[in-house]
Parts: sequence; C-alpha cells; structure tokens
Amino acid sequence: MRNKHILHAIICLNSLITIYGNTQHHPCSFLPRCRCRLEQHTNFVEVDCSHIQLKVIPSVPSYVIKLIMKHNLIAVIPNGIFSNNTILTELDLSDNRIHTLTEMSFNGLQNLLKLSLQNNDLSKGNISFGANTFSHLKNLKYLNLKNNFVKHYQPDLSKLVSLESLQIDFLSNGISFMSEQYRKLKNLAMLDLSGLSGKCSLPILKSESFKFISQVRHLDISTCNIQQIYRGALSVLKNLTYLDVSNNTCIKFEGLENITSDLQFSNINILKVSYLHKMSDLTTVLKTSHIKGLHNTSLQNVYVDGNRIQTIEKNALTYLPKSLKFLSVRQNPFKFGYYLEDVLHLSNLETANISDLYRHKTNFYPEKCFFESICTCNEDSVNEPSCMDQSRISSGYVKDKIRKGDIPDIFSLIEIPIPTNLKHINYSSGSLVMDLPKLMFSRNKLETVDISNNILHSLIGPIFNVTSLKTLNVANNFCSNISNFFFSTDFKNLERLNFQNNLLGYVLPDDIDGKIFHNLKSLTDLMLSKNRIPNLPRKILKSQRNLQKLDLSDNILTDITFRVSHMMHLQELDLSGNRITIISAPITSQLNSLARKHNFSVDLNDNLLECNCISIKFIEWMTTTNVRLKNIKKYKCMLWNRTIVTLHNPKETYNLLKKHCTSYEQLEIALVSGILLFIAIIVGAVVYRFRWKLRYLYYIVKVKYSSLHSETEEEYSYMYGAFVSYADEDRIFVHKTLLQKLEVENGIQLCLHMRNFLPGNDIATNIASAIHNSRKTLVIMSHNFLKSYWCMFEYNMARMENVYERRDENVVFLMFYEQMSPRDLPLNVLEMIQSKSYIEYPNDEYGDTVFWDQLVNALK
Ligand SMILES: *[C@@H]1O[C@H](CO)[C@@H](O)[C@H](O)[C@H]1NC(C)=O
Ligand SMILES: *[C@@H]1O[C@H](CO)[C@@H](O)[C@H](O)[C@H]1NC(C)=O
Ligand SMILES: *[C@@H]1O[C@H](CO)[C@@H](O)[C@H](O)[C@H]1NC(C)=O
Ligand SMILES: *[C@@H]1O[C@H](CO)[C@@H](O)[C@H](O)[C@H]1NC(C)=O
Ligand SMILES: *[C@@H]1O[C@H](CO)[C@@H](O)[C@H](O)[C@H]1NC(C)=O
Ligand SMILES: *[C@@H]1O[C@H](CO)[C@@H](O)[C@H](O)[C@H]1NC(C)=O
Ligand SMILES: *[C@@H]1O[C@H](CO)[C@@H](O)[C@H](O)[C@H]1NC(C)=O
Ligand SMILES: *[C@@H]1O[C@H](CO)[C@@H](O)[C@H](O)[C@H]1NC(C)=O
Ligand SMILES: *[C@@H]1O[C@H](CO)[C@@H](O)[C@H](O)[C@H]1NC(C)=O
Ligand SMILES: *[C@@H]1O[C@H](CO)[C@@H](O)[C@H](O)[C@H]1NC(C)=O
Ligand SMILES: *[C@@H]1O[C@H](CO)[C@@H](O)[C@H](O)[C@H]1NC(C)=O
Repeated sequence: MRNKHILHAIICLNSLITIYGNTQHHPCSFLPRCRCRLEQHTNFVEVDCSHIQLKVIPSVPSYVIKLIMKHNLIAVIPNGIFSNNTILTELDLSDNRIHTLTEMSFNGLQNLLKLSLQNNDLSKGNISFGANTFSHLKNLKYLNLKNNFVKHYQPDLSKLVSLESLQIDFLSNGISFMSEQYRKLKNLAMLDLSGLSGKCSLPILKSESFKFISQVRHLDISTCNIQQIYRGALSVLKNLTYLDVSNNTCIKFEGLENITSDLQFSNINILKVSYLHKMSDLTTVLKTSHIKGLHNTSLQNVYVDGNRIQTIEKNALTYLPKSLKFLSVRQNPFKFGYYLEDVLHLSNLETANISDLYRHKTNFYPEKCFFESICTCNEDSVNEPSCMDQSRISSGYVKDKIRKGDIPDIFSLIEIPIPTNLKHINYSSGSLVMDLPKLMFSRNKLETVDISNNILHSLIGPIFNVTSLKTLNVANNFCSNISNFFFSTDFKNLERLNFQNNLLGYVLPDDIDGKIFHNLKSLTDLMLSKNRIPNLPRKILKSQRNLQKLDLSDNILTDITFRVSHMMHLQELDLSGNRITIISAPITSQLNSLARKHNFSVDLNDNLLECNCISIKFIEWMTTTNVRLKNIKKYKCMLWNRTIVTLHNPKETYNLLKKHCTSYEQLEIALVSGILLFIAIIVGAVVYRFRWKLRYLYYIVKVKYSSLHSETEEEYSYMYGAFVSYADEDRIFVHKTLLQKLEVENGIQLCLHMRNFLPGNDIATNIASAIHNSRKTLVIMSHNFLKSYWCMFEYNMARMENVYERRDENVVFLMFYEQMSPRDLPLNVLEMIQSKSYIEYPNDEYGDTVFWDQLVNALK
C-alpha cells in the first residue's frame, strides 16, 4: 500500500523534475499549497508548507521525511496526527500559535531527529507537559523550545535520551539552577540559553548552577542578564569547548576573572566574552588577572569586542595561550601603549579583527545591574597604581600616553611589531586620522590588511616588509595623495587593491610616468571606483600585466586614455557611472584584441553615450565586437536631435544612425564641395584679374632680392636708357636701324634681350630686371609682337611697372612698326594707346626724320 503511494508520487515528481530540473520545489500532489521536493537517492519527499496561513496540521503521507510548517497559524497538534509518519526525521513547527502539547502529540515520530517549536505559545496553556509528552521521541537529537515560556519553568525532558542539542528559555529569579533531570541526557553536548533568540535570565550563577549539565561542551549564556558569576560556576563543565557569555553587561571584567579561572582546566577552544560592559561605563584596563586562567588552555578563538578596553596591562597579553589563532577586539577604544610589544608573544595568531574601534551601538535600554559600584578605571586613572600597577615598568620602546587623534607615536618606531604568523588584520573604521608615514613591519606573513574607513588622507610611505601581502583594502579613506614611492618593491605580491571611494582623482592624472603603481606587478584586482578621476595617463597601469579586474566605475572619466592592450588577462573593465560619450577607435581595437584571447567584458552602463555621425564607428563597434558589453540593455545614448534612447537593440540604433548619416554625409559632401568650388572660382577670378600684377610683383621681388647689395633708392640711376621689347621677326629693324639711330647717334643706352640678358638667369627674371633697370620700355608693336608670348609678357610687365612702381612717369612707349587696325589690338593695348603716347613708324623719308626726333625726345 505504502509502496504504491511512493511509486505514484515518484512518477508524478519525476515527470515534474524532467520539466523543471531536480533542485526546484513543486506543488505536492497531496497538498497543492505546499511544495514538495524529491530526494533523489533515497526517494523520500521533503514538504515545505511554510508561510501559507495553515490553521490545521494536514496529515501527510508516510513517505515524507521532512516537514516544514513554520510561520503559520497552527494552534493545536491533534493527537496522533503523525502516527503514520514513522520515517519523518525533521519537523519544523516554529512561529505558530501552539499552546498545548499532549502525550499523543508526537506519537509515531520515533525516528524524528530534529524538532523545532520555537516562537509558540506553550506557556499560554497548561505548560505542565510531563515527561511522557516526549516519550515517543526516542531518537530526537535537536530540540528547539525557544521563546515559549514567560516564567520560570523547566519541562521534563528526561525521556529524550538521545538529545544532543537543546535550545530553550531559562528564566530564574535568584540563583539559577539547571534541574537534575538533565543528568539523564547523557548525550547533551550543546545547550543554548541565549536571550538573543529566546528568553533568558540567569542572575546569579554558582557552582551548583550547572552541576547536572557537566557533559555539555557548547554553552551559550549570552544576553542572560547575568549579574554575578561565582568562581566555580563553570569549572564543573570539564569538557567545555565553546562558551559564549557575551552581552551580559553587569559582569564586567571582575566577573571575567571568575570565568577564566574556571576555564583553566577545561578544553575551551572558542570563548566569547564581548560586551561585558555597558557603553556608558568608563573605559577599562585589561589586566593580567582577568585572563591569567587561560594561560594553560588550548584556546584558539577569542572575542572580546565592545568591552571599552582602553589599554592593556604590560605583560598581560603574554598570558594568552600560545594556541590562540583568532582574536576579535572590535569596538574597544584602544590607545597605543606598552602592551604593543607583547603582541609578538601571540606567535600563532593568524587573524586579528580590530575594526570599528570607536564605533558602538548605543543601547537605549541598558541592563539594570544589582551592583553598580564595581570599579572601572577611567582614562585619567590609567596610570594610577591601583589600575595599572605593572604597566609603569617602562620599556623605553613606546612613548607614554598617546591621545586619540594625535599622530600616535607608534609610527615613529623602527619596526611595528606584528605577530609572526598573523595573516589577516582588519583595522577598518579605526578612526585613524593621519598621513601614513614611512613604516617598517617586523617579520610577518601578513596576507590581508583592511584599513578601510579611516582617514588616511595622504599615503606617503614607503611601507616595507609586506612581501606576503596579497589583499589591501584602503577604501573610504578620503585619500587624495599617494606618493610615487608609497608602494615599495615589497608590494610585489599584492594581488587585490581596493581604493574605492577616495579622492585619487587629485593625484592619478599627474602620474604621467606610471610610478605610483609601478611596483604592483602581481596585481589582479584593482578597484578605483568613486575617486573623482577625470582621466588616467597612458602609462598609469603599465606594470599591471596580470590585471584581471579593473573597476573604474563612478568616476568622471570622459574617455579612456590609458593603455589596456598589455593587460593580457583582463576580464572585466567596469566603466559604468562615468561621463564617457565615445570610445575612440585605437582603444576599441585594443579592447577587441583582449576579447580575442579570452572572455572579456566592459561595462558602460550609466554613461553619456552619443549616437551621432561622429560616434557612428563606435556604435558600429558595439554591434560587431566580441567584447561582452555588460548591461548593454540599459545603456542610454543621445541621438543627434538630443533624444535619449536605450541601446537595447544596438543594431537597430546603428542602422538608424547609418541612414541618418549617409544623407547627412552626402549633404555635407555637396556643401563642402560647393563651398570649395565657390572659393576656387573667386580665387581664380582674383588671380586672373591680377595675374600680371602678381607676376610682376613676384619677379620684381625676386629682382630686388637678387640685387640687394645695389645702390639705395634715392640715387638710383637707370642702367639703360630703354629696354626694347620686340618680336623676333622684327629684329633686323631693331638691330640695324633702331640701334644705329638711338644708341650710336643719340647715345641712348639700349637693353636688347639678345645682347644684354644675363645667361643663366631665367627669361622672366631677366625681363623683369631689364624693365626695372631701364628708364623706359620701348615696345615695337607689330602683329608678330602680339603673337609672341614673351613679347606680351614683356609688355604686361612693363605696364605693371608703369602702374605700380613709377606712378608719375610714362614707362611704356609704344611704337607701331606696322599699320594696325584697332580691331587687331587687345584691350590692354588699346587702353594704353588711349591714355599714353605712342608713335607710328612712318614710311616716307621726311616723316622718318621727324619720327626719330620724336622718339629720341620721348626716351630721354
Ligand atoms: C494512518 O494510516 C492508516 C492506514 O492507512 C489510516 O487509516 C489512517 O487514517 C492514517 N492516519 C493518519 C493520521 O493519516
Ligand atoms: C489546565 O490544568 C488544569 C488542572 O491542572 C485543568 O483544569 C485545565 O483544564 C487545564 N487547562 C488547559 C487549557 O489544558
Ligand atoms: C568528558 O569527555 C570524556 C571523553 O569524551 C568523558 O569520558 C567524560 O566523562 C566527560 N566528562 C564529563 C564531565 O562529562
Ligand atoms: C545585547 O542585549 C540587549 C538586551 O539586553 C539587546 O537589545 C542587544 O541586541 C544585545 N546585543 C548583542 C550584540 O547581542
Ligand atoms: C567572583 O567570585 C567570587 C567568589 O567566588 C565572588 O565573591 C565574586 O562576587 C565574584 N565576582 C563577580 C563579579 O561575580
Ligand atoms: C600552567 O601550567 C604550568 C605547568 O604545567 C604551571 O606551572 C603554571 O602555573 C600554569 N599557569 C597557570 C596560569 O595556571
Ligand atoms: C571582523 O568583524 C567584522 C564584523 O563582525 C566581520 O565582518 C569581518 O569578517 C571580521 N574580519 C575578520 C578578518 O574576521
Ligand atoms: C573588516 O571589518 C568590517 C566591519 O567592521 C567588515 O565590513 C569587513 O568586511 C572586514 N574586512 C575583512 C577583510 O574581513
Ligand atoms: C624590513 O625591510 C627593510 C628594508 O627593506 C630591511 O632592511 C629589513 O631587513 C626588513 N626586515 C625584516 C624583518 O624583514
Ligand atoms: C603629496 O605627497 C607628496 C609626498 O609627500 C608631497 O610632496 C606632495 O606635495 C603632496 N601633494 C599634495 C597635493 O598634497
Ligand atoms: C529624434 O530622432 C529620432 C529618430 O529619427 C525620432 O524618433 C525622435 O522623435 C526625434 N526626436 C525629436 C525631439 O525630434
């Protein structure tokens, strides 16, 4: 019959499992509101009916092995309801309203291992449930009855012969006394009476208090309103390995002495004695007598948080056992003192938690103590003999009394003492306000150092002897300055560096040569988020070839300017929360090269990305790259018209952009070429208009520069009387007639290109020079002249000389060698004819004489 049920359930569940996978819970076939899970190897079923406002316990099939019904409204356990659940091992009825238990409540649960009735109302009904209530639970190992009893009541649990762990309320008025029935619970190893999870009041503990639970190894009596703990109260617990007496603020260190002296013959391993003082108490001195009893124990972990310890008696720490591995002394207002030397005695200490030194939770309802007169030493009495008898022995090593807030003198020590095996130290929130100077530590194996949440505004250093250091946390320190040498070569093994929430934006942009992080060659994780960094120099991370994670989120970066391609192992680059608009092509190709080698992701969420025609290449990169763009669905991008879009489909945005930009590009090309054409035309026109002037100026400048050494302007006398410009075809006339008439007969020195041009100079320069150096230029105008390029060149140059160099004179003198009609003449010649003199070569004998006279006159 039962097998048939199981089979059915298995088939149902298997079909579900194949759909959902086996780790999930599924609605139970017998109770749809509950969730079932099949345990694969055993084929038993776990049922979870929590948080469904159940009022009545349902009967569940016998193949259920675990039944969770916490947070419901169950008030009664019906008699025999579990009678068929013989294989049930765990039953959780916590957070209900159960008020009555009877002899038949747990009938059938002979295999139950774990039962929780925490947070019910058992004291509402007749809480006189007798021993037989639990008589069926022969195998029960764990029982939780916390938060049920409101007054002193010790239920008879003697039938729970297998019980190993008991969590229960314990309220007593005077001397607390665990009843004799516990003697029968031979296996009881763990007893939790803590008032933190239930109700506890143990005002006075004496030697008889725990007489019948001497078998207990793990005892939690934290938050139990303990007023007095007599010597001998705990010494009966010979096998005790774990003791928690925390948060009993009336005990004070005087009570601690009674505790530790009782523990000296125990097996104590973990001791929690935090918060033995009220926050309003005066500060205390930890004395040798308080902890002497621990000297010969094998104690490994100690918690002494929140005890207002201000200083420690000299040599007291040497009484802590050598076996000590873990020490938590948080929330104590420590001052530096002589005791610091003693830490070297803690030779096996691996972890020290010294965080939150000056921080503490204010308790608005401080515990009322019977005896408030117990002496505590305050700050000013630290050096009084009664408080610190032995501490006056000066060691000459550490200077006296250092006040909080001063730069502590410990930092002037040659070596800061560090226990030789200490690996982890947490000095976060220690209110350390200072520039970190040069420090050298004693020989150590420090791996993790947390100095976050202090105010180390300037890290000067260098820091030496930290060669084992792997993790350093300097977050939240208002640090705005690191020297180039702070990280000495001893930081060569540092792997994780957390600089979150500082002000390194003030110093990193100036580190052009990458000196600050130069020695951190093993770094794999670097957190620089929230540092107001505006930019990072190219070489800033040059030594970080092993970097895997770089967090630059929440800065004010506008661009990536530092090199990344050498960080071959980089896997995550977080740039979210910056002001990046675009990543330039050189960087994107560096990022691509990293992604080619392994998984590589970049987070650009919460930036000011731009989607316009300038950034189109960048947007295209997003659609094509192998780099995993983390959170890309959330990226926001500003379009060309200032509309902000999300990049949940970058391809679509890219296409939109492409479309926009091609039309834009065409328009742009058309516009630019139009403008260029316009300019070209204007320039062309201007050049054409002034072509002769430009040429003239050019040559004249050339001439002037080549004859700089010549005479000054005033007494300038022309080298030639006239420069004769003529066409080659008319040379006979010029060389014979003209030369004869003008030079030989009338003494006018002529400049003829055939005769006077300097060989080697280029023609144009020669022409310009000839015109410039002659008083007049005589133009032998003919049809051939008009046809010749060089003749026209000469003519125009002369014209320019006329216009720009010699304003008052007529430089050009035209002589028409042939009969020419105005139609044949170009405009600039006609112009000249109109305004200036000219002469025509006559053909008759008489006219000839007049002509030569006129010509000679004109040229003189
Ligand atoms: C236990 O099993 C018997 C036989 O199958 C059945 O008659 C009875 O109702 C069951 N009891 C409960 C409480 O489910
Ligand atoms: C409590 O016990 C008394 C007698 O011991 C009995 O009369 C009473 O009915 C009980 N009440 C409940 C709720 O069980
Ligand atoms: C302590 O443990 C040992 C060994 O487990 C045992 O023999 C001894 O009885 C225990 N002592 C007490 C007081 O239970
Ligand atoms: C200490 O006990 C008080 C009640 O006495 C409680 O309010 C507080 O939460 C406890 N603190 C710790 C740290 O256990
Ligand atoms: C410590 O034990 C002694 C003697 O057993 C007792 O007189 C004293 O009051 C105890 N101190 C505290 C603070 O409980
Ligand atoms: C520790 O044990 C040694 C010998 O085993 C003994 O001389 C010394 O007094 C003990 N110390 C304490 C504080 O009990
Ligand atoms: C120190 O204590 C804090 C607060 O309880 C805890 O978060 C941290 O893990 C502890 N540090 C170490 C190194 O144990
Ligand atoms: C140091 O202690 C703080 C709390 O005081 C905690 O947040 C932090 O995680 C701890 N650091 C380490 C490395 O355990
Ligand atoms: C500490 O570092 C200094 C400087 O590097 C070195 O001279 C000294 O030997 C080191 N001390 C120890 C204990 O390693
Ligand atoms: C940072 O520290 C260095 C080294 O001590 C110092 O020279 C420099 O002036 C400091 N810079 C700022 C901005 O404080
Ligand atoms: C900007 O351009 C996009 C795409 O063309 C368009 O969807 C959006 O409405 C425009 N926004 C404004 C304010 O013109």
